[in-house]
Order: sequence, then C-alpha cells, then structure tokens
Amino acid sequence: TSMAYRTLTTADRGAVRTITVNRPDKLNALNRETIGELTLAFRQAASDDAVRVVVLTGAGEKAFVAGADISEMTAWSPVKAQAASRAGQELMLTVERLGKPVVAKIQGYALGGGMELAMACHLRVASDKARFGQPEIGLGLIPGFGGTQRLTRLTGRGAALELCLLGQQIDAARAERLGLVTRVVAADELDASVDAMADQLAAAAPLALKGILEAVIEGGECAIDQGLAFETQGFAIAFSTDDMREGTGAFLERRKPAFKGT
Ligand code: COA
Repeated sequence: TSMAYRTLTTADRGAVRTITVNRPDKLNALNRETIGELTLAFRQAASDDAVRVVVLTGAGEKAFVAGADISEMTAWSPVKAQAASRAGQELMLTVERLGKPVVAKIQGYALGGGMELAMACHLRVASDKARFGQPEIGLGLIPGFGGTQRLTRLTGRGAALELCLLGQQIDAARAERLGLVTRVVAADELDASVDAMADQLAAAAPLALKGILEAVIEGGECAIDQGLAFETQGFAIAFSTDDMREGTGAFLERRKPAFKGT
C-alpha cells in the first residue's frame, strides 16, 4: 500500500489487508505514535474499496500486543491521561465500526491495550500459545481503551470483573470458554486458519457483511426497537445489490454464488 508507517507494516493479498503492529522488541506495545498510525491505517482500509477484510496482528512470535506503552505513561498528567484514553478508545471504535470484517490473529500475549484492541476486532483467532489479560490493576490503573465495556459485553460481568480486579493472565483455552476468542488453533496452523477465514469473508457480499456488523454492533447498543430498525435497514439495503440476486439465484439454480461486491 502507498502509505509508509514507522510502527506498522501493511500488506495486501487479494482483497485481504493485513496490518501488523511492528515493535517486536517492545512486544508491540501501543505508544502514542502506534495508536495514531493504527487509526490512520484502519481509516485508509475503510475508504479503499479494494479492501474487503482486514487482518490485524503483531510482529514476532511472542506478542500480539502486550499493552499500552507503560514507559510513556509515567509522566502523564490526568489531563494527558484523559486525552490518551480518548485516543485509544477512538482507535478501538474505528476498528469496531469499520464496516468491513476485522480478524485479529493472536499468536502470543494480548494484554491490557492489546486485549482491548483484540476485543474491538470482530473475530479473534488465537494460537494455543496465546495469553490474555487485563493486568492494569497491577500498575495501580484501570483499563482505559474500552476494556471495561467490551469485556463485559463479550464475556458478561462475572468474568470481566474477575479479569480486571485480579489482573491474572489466562490461556487460550480459558479465553475460548469465556467467548473471548472465536477459535483456538495450534500455533503452526494459525496463519492458514486466518487466511482461510479471511478468504471466506473476502468472497462474501460486502454490503451484507456491513449490514450484519452494523446491526450487531451499533444496533446491539440500542434498545430492541432501534436495534431491529438497524436490522431492517441492512436487510432492505441488501435488496439493492446484484450480490443479493446472485446469492438467491445461485441457491435456486443449485450452484455456488459468485459475489462481485455490487
Ligand atoms: N509497555 C512498554 N514496554 C513493554 C510493554 C508495555 N506494555 N510490554 C513489554 N514491554 C517491553 C519490555 O519493557 C521489554 O523492553 P526492554 O527489552 O527494552 O526492557 C520488552 O518489551 C520485552 O518485554 P519483557 O518484559 O522483557 O518480556 P518477558 O517475556 O519477560 O515478559 C510480559 C512478557 C508480557 C509478561 C511483560 O512484558 C509484561 O508484563 N508486559 C506488560 C503487560 C502490561 O501490564 N500491559 C498493560 C499495560 S496498561
């Protein structure tokens, strides 16, 4: 892709864009620059019609993202902390509301801001070596990039309170039982598993994917009447597409649909 980043790399494979946080010597910790660049990279992916799916991962074997960069925090005033929390939350909202599916590929530590980033993605595929946690309590802090809210929505209040109050790490198997990850695979199968999932999403009808994302994520935050209105809107918009005619026609003709994104 055209843009050059200092803390990220991006690569396209067909309609799948992979964004990789690239600070492996700091376990891909999210400093201010990384948060800014990720926000830009996701906005760019949103506006590029050639991109249908985004895969988000971290460089190296050890970590997806080991949290917000603790070394930056020590000098923060409360006002600075407020701005930093808002910037992190804004990134997470940009990911969550991208309008295209985002798959987190989690090979190692997803802690603190890293777990919050993973939770903003729509699907999470983890290696059996991945580790999760909200360790902020150990720093005398609380999660600041949406963790208290998204963890509660994903796992319920019980597990959210357990993980945030105790700050312990959990393994991939427990994360799967909690509904925190979509799928756990052997470490050497992670790339192939994510590629297959991304290819399936890239071949699907993009406006239908978008309708599902909006109805579940934005509609899911409303009372049911408004949520149902989101659903009806997405359902109706699908009827404006060639892909809907292709999908239903292919079913009736007993053949595989070929969606074009129109
Ligand atoms: N912020 C800043 N730097 C971080 C970091 C973070 N969140 N997580 C890791 N790093 C840095 C380490 O300081 C170290 O840098 P150095 O080599 O310049 O000293 C490097 O990444 C490697 O980490 P290290 O701690 O040596 O690896 P480890 O295998 O011993 O431990 C972890 C791995 C993930 C358990 C440990 O790094 C950790 O606890 N990180 C912080 C997790 C956290 O609290 N995140 C929430 C932040 S709000």
